[in-house]
Amino acid sequence: MKNRTIEEDLSNWIRKAFETAFPGLIPENAPVEVVATANEEFGDYQCNAAMGLSKPLRKNPREIARAALDSCSLPDEISRAEIAGPGFINVFLSEGYLAEALRGMQEDDRLGVRSVGEGKTVIMDYSSPNVAKPMHIGHIRSTGIGNALDRLHRFLGYRVIADNHLGDWGTQFGLLIMGYRHFVDEKALLDHPVEELERIYVQSYQKSEEDPSWRDEAKKELVKLQQGDEENLALWKRFIELSLKEFSSIYERLGVTFDLYRGESYYNDRLPSLVEELKEKNLAVTSEGAQVVFLEEEKLPVCIVQKSDGGFNYATTDLATLESRIEEFDPDKIIYLTDERQQLHFKQIFAVASRLGWRADLAHVWFGLMRLKEGTFSTRQGNVIKLEQLMDEAESRAFEVVKVSSPDMPEAQQRDVAKSVGIGAVKYADLSQNPQSVVTFTWEKALALDGNSAPYLQYAYARIASVQDKYTERFPKSDLRAFPIRIEHELERRLAIRLLRFADTLFRAAEFYRPNLIADYLYDLAQVYSTFYQNVPFLKAEEGVRESRVQICGLVARTLKKGLDLLGIETPERI
Ligand code: ARG
Repeated sequence: MKNRTIEEDLSNWIRKAFETAFPGLIPENAPVEVVATANEEFGDYQCNAAMGLSKPLRKNPREIARAALDSCSLPDEISRAEIAGPGFINVFLSEGYLAEALRGMQEDDRLGVRSVGEGKTVIMDYSSPNVAKPMHIGHIRSTGIGNALDRLHRFLGYRVIADNHLGDWGTQFGLLIMGYRHFVDEKALLDHPVEELERIYVQSYQKSEEDPSWRDEAKKELVKLQQGDEENLALWKRFIELSLKEFSSIYERLGVTFDLYRGESYYNDRLPSLVEELKEKNLAVTSEGAQVVFLEEEKLPVCIVQKSDGGFNYATTDLATLESRIEEFDPDKIIYLTDERQQLHFKQIFAVASRLGWRADLAHVWFGLMRLKEGTFSTRQGNVIKLEQLMDEAESRAFEVVKVSSPDMPEAQQRDVAKSVGIGAVKYADLSQNPQSVVTFTWEKALALDGNSAPYLQYAYARIASVQDKYTERFPKSDLRAFPIRIEHELERRLAIRLLRFADTLFRAAEFYRPNLIADYLYDLAQVYSTFYQNVPFLKAEEGVRESRVQICGLVARTLKKGLDLLGIETPERI
């Protein structure tokens, strides 16, 4: 298998060209590289380094570009390189190279994507809902984006440990226990456990606002729980079990699995010693009765690790969790997914970890909150849309569509397809947006079945698969592989370039934690394919051209399938 991607190869070449033309004058960190172009007029790849180097080299950028190109010969991949506009270098790939590259992809079950993560461990901390709170549509973000990054890293060869860091400990349990004792409806608890737990929690919370003695009672229950009171412990365990059962069924529908479910409570025993460690190392100091770490150097507010009443908090737990993960798994990297509101929290945790000398690359991948047109969700306003409700609606709308598009399919199969299409649509609607953008939820968008959507891509996949079937039907004796892929037509060329960009796209999506780059890529690929399919003959083309085209189709199908799989989206063979 070839080791480097096309962008890496071309970037190496262009850097060498600049360095040969200007020995010792190109700063090591200057971005001398090529990137894929969006518009074919500007070549297949482009380098705009000459403009940035104009000042330090005191030369006109066009002259710089000229000198770079004159300094060395073109590599095999390139048929021509031109200087355009103020000093862009536009690069055109050769057809011979494109054909060879596609043949390479064809032989490779990884589609030309090398295993860059081999030997490295990544812990993925995502989804992590709180016990006794229903998962609403906002939770699709942490779960979906986290799972896509999880799948992507596994494919890139990393050893991934997906850990669901459930919110299963905290002050809410005092109120929940009180709510349970006074208001629970056992039947509702069995039918809709999390909904009922939330209801009793809200009722108990409201009561505590009106009645200080209720609040004191709840506090007492909490302390009893913390001290290991058997009855309260049993209730707490039941709340977790009931919640987990419901969460698990959501994960199953979403096709999401975790290696570990270690909630916050798993680390309880480590909290006191962690604070001791911070004190011993003179990192934590007493301030107004609390233990805090000052983070002035990092220009961050103090991080409280033990409250003045002796209690530990979210920061203490995350530090203990981190220490335990480092001890047990020696990870190269830990990726945390939460919404934007926890940015400061993680900056503080990472700062304390670095002061402690803990070594692991820590990344907080935050995403924008999901809002409704009317504003944010709020249980009290009653405008929460539950994730389950969204999935049900998506599946039933997809079922109506499948019944029309495939009327002769047996109903059980129609339902299976509707499941893949409906859930795929919901996931893709979120994954195709920049994670850090603010997302306004609308039913139309979440359930879109055409345009830039999962169903559009799933449909494209199924259609391509059928081209191959038709070929085998028409030419049962023909051996495809006797006719290697060739690139002659302009539309073949465009499609080949798209296929070739798969590896670079995946690397970039992993580097910037942006599954939406994969979604953009797949949509572009499917659109270019569709133009190709509509404009060139397949089965009617002459022998050789025909086989080449069918094999290109096969590669498009495999790439779409793999790309969608990385987003956690299924690809039925028929829709
Ligand atoms: N349970 C938290 C919440 O719902 C998210 C936990 C994220 N992970 C972590 N290690 N802090 O906001």
